[in-house]
Amino acid sequence: MKGIILAGGKGTRLYPMTKAISKQLLPIYDKPLIYYPLSVLMLASIREILIISTPEDTPVYEKLLGDGSQIGINISYKIQDTPRGLADAFILGEDFIGEDDVCLILGDNVFYGQSLTMSLEQAKKNLPQATIFGYPVNDPRSFGVVAFDNNQRVISIEEKPQHPKSKFAVPGLYFYDNRVIEIAKQVKPSARGEIEITSVNNAYLEMGELHVELLGRGMAWLDTGNPEGMLKAAEYVEAVQSRQGFYISCIEEIAWRRGFITTEQLRQIGEGLEMTEYGKYILSLVEELNGL
Ligand code: G1P
Repeated sequence: MKGIILAGGKGTRLYPMTKAISKQLLPIYDKPLIYYPLSVLMLASIREILIISTPEDTPVYEKLLGDGSQIGINISYKIQDTPRGLADAFILGEDFIGEDDVCLILGDNVFYGQSLTMSLEQAKKNLPQATIFGYPVNDPRSFGVVAFDNNQRVISIEEKPQHPKSKFAVPGLYFYDNRVIEIAKQVKPSARGEIEITSVNNAYLEMGELHVELLGRGMAWLDTGNPEGMLKAAEYVEAVQSRQGFYISCIEEIAWRRGFITTEQLRQIGEGLEMTEYGKYILSLVEELNGL
């Protein structure tokens, strides 16, 4: 299975923060925003990853993450000249996806929670049927919104409805089989001129091949759409990390726990970052293992 991170867009809602730098490179507390979605793909055991971004920002992502070999994964890059909508990821990523299934995650989506890995596993099991998620929010108007009938069957998925039929927003994490490439090519641009992921999801819904997994109250899906959301997300990460001592979305730790890299490789990464709390955390993982 392949993974795509869509990290394009101009980030105009965060100007002037994002005037000279891509939104997904801004920090959420102690690490760049893109580490969070990258860690979700890694938790789903996806090791072939494509990052799609703008002509200006792609070299910066390459500088940050390279080819991924240092964390035992394979990262490639694709430039999106103009933001055409989320479904464009499957058209731009056609060669990369090849004959495989694919998981798309948006570069600004932060997920955290004990049940996340289980939900990811379930989504993979559902293939070739598609899986999207539903997460209750107070005001779902700026998201895709999924509504259900009394038997928990999906009755509609609407993009940014003025009058939402439910409080279940659709987070930016989607699992599809290979048909998604052809489906994306058929999607007509919406009123805002984008080929919407919601249209792709509606196509799977019409075929009777869409699962919606609800994310429960123990899961955090944090909003990074405005400065306040970014600050709250940073505070959340800080609170969990300093209270529990477990880091959220430490990609090197995940790579190690998943067996993508050896303990020796982890130690080397930690030593290179020793001057930071982040590096000390990585080293502490190695030391615990050695019973120090
Ligand atoms: C996009 C999708 C929307 C989804 C949201 C999740 O919105 O179009 O359906 O709920 O991501 O972050 P956008 O980022 O384009 O506003």
